[in-house]
Amino acid sequence: MTAAEQLDFSGKRVLVCGGSDGIGYGVAQMFSRAGAQVAITGTRDASEYDRDFSDWAYHRLDLSQGESVEALASEFDRLDVLVNCVGSVLYQQGEFERSGFEKIMTINLSGAMHLYTVMLPLLQASRGCIVSLDSVASIRPAWNNPAYSASKAGLVQLTKSLAKKWGKKGVRVNTVAPGLVPTKLTANQVTPEQEEAFAATCPVGRFGRAEDIAGAVLFLASPLASYITGEQIVVDGGASL
Ligand SMILES: NC(=O)c1ccc[n+]([C@@H]2O[C@H](COP(=O)([O-])OP(=O)(O)OC[C@H]3O[C@@H](n4cnc5c(N)ncnc54)[C@H](OP(=O)(O)O)[C@@H]3O)[C@@H](O)[C@H]2O)c1
Repeated sequence: MTAAEQLDFSGKRVLVCGGSDGIGYGVAQMFSRAGAQVAITGTRDASEYDRDFSDWAYHRLDLSQGESVEALASEFDRLDVLVNCVGSVLYQQGEFERSGFEKIMTINLSGAMHLYTVMLPLLQASRGCIVSLDSVASIRPAWNNPAYSASKAGLVQLTKSLAKKWGKKGVRVNTVAPGLVPTKLTANQVTPEQEEAFAATCPVGRFGRAEDIAGAVLFLASPLASYITGEQIVVDGGASL
């Protein structure tokens, strides 16, 4: 197969959790353009978003609620690729409160584990794969976001652990660590002044875009990466070097 053929997802079922917005939306678009049958999730009713999801199946999901995760799994009878783009953060020192810390750990880490576990039988049947988004904060912690940083570092080790455990089941598990991408998650970090300062120090000279991250996700989900599991690919334009 040519490299282009290996990036053709025609006939593949791809679920992008957190595909309603930001990077996840860009990931869903790229899979869709690569021929995949795409389903996405968001936390609200589909009608509450100002985006067009009409080409994709839409499901509501709250990763902090076990029943919501199980209800999502019950909607699928086949799955080839599970992408977890769900992520949450609390600003204004909210992660220093116990409730805030636990909330973020639950969404970003325990919820992810539950999602992967309930989807495993489908992925095992298809010899499929999981790709999650962690963050450069898993390597260089964000000092005002202890839960975000710890949850993302935990996601990296969770990925390695599951890759080791599930490899023999035919399921690969990898992560992509984005640098700064302007989305609603990072809205308070991307003023024009900050963008200029960032561009001056980042080797590639700009903020990331959803499609930069999506490219790495598609690669990891494709047969081009069939011998890669338990890995983290940093996609940050060299900013963390
Ligand atoms: N943007 C960056 O600079 C950056 C950098 C490093 C890592 N990341 C990671 O990349 C991923 C995507 O981030 P983003 O910037 O695209 O964020 P975003 O635009 O805020 O999108 C987050 C997605 O997660 C969903 N979500 C939020 N809370 C949820 C919950 N409790 N249960 C289920 N879904 C939930 C959101 O749904 P709604 O649309 O309904 O809110 C949305 O689909 C996250 O894991 C984030 O940590 C982002």
